[in-house]
Amino acid sequence: MPFRPNALIRGAAVLAVAASLAGCGEDTPVSSSQTLFEKYGGAPTIRTVVDNAVTALVSDPVTAPFFAGTLATPGRPDRLKSCLRLQFTAVFGGPATYPGRNDQGDMCADMVTAHRGLNISGAVFDRFIMDVAMVLRSAGVSEADVNAVAPTLVGLRPQIVS
Ligand code: HEM
Repeated sequence: MPFRPNALIRGAAVLAVAASLAGCGEDTPVSSSQTLFEKYGGAPTIRTVVDNAVTALVSDPVTAPFFAGTLATPGRPDRLKSCLRLQFTAVFGGPATYPGRNDQGDMCADMVTAHRGLNISGAVFDRFIMDVAMVLRSAGVSEADVNAVAPTLVGLRPQIVS
């Protein structure tokens, strides 16, 4: 089934507005129609987040071994980043649907196909999510918004963990 989290992110944006109006958040309020993609600066921010996430994942001793083959093969790191940009654009409510065609013109795989045979455990998956959350915070994404996108990523767990 195509991955269309836009509605969810818009819902999260509405909740963020409600929370800040209620005085229980320090976030800059966003209008109910503004996506997190727009709020955080669009494609350039997604590019930075993905670059930093891949750097973190290939440096983390828990996740790094899974990316050894990727790093050793010309073109694969670029494809991975391009597919992650497509997916994170979608997760942030931007103009993308995952799986779909990335900004290099290639079709990205669905999550089951992309991770088949990698034997990713639950603990490794959790570490990946932690690394990505840290990168999002470093890029200036508020805690409330990290918590808004996290369920979308965590929801992919059954497709990725084997
Ligand atoms: C919510 C969590 C995750 C998301 C959103 C995600 C996303 C992606 C995407 C978009 C691709 C590229 C698919 C393509 O090339 O068509 C990919 C591939 C891959 N992912 Fe994940 N992933 C997640 C979790 C993990 C975890 C936990 C690991 C292992 C630590 C992992 C390791 C890999 C590897 C090794 C590839 C293949 C890269 C290659 O082809 O060279 N992923 N993932």
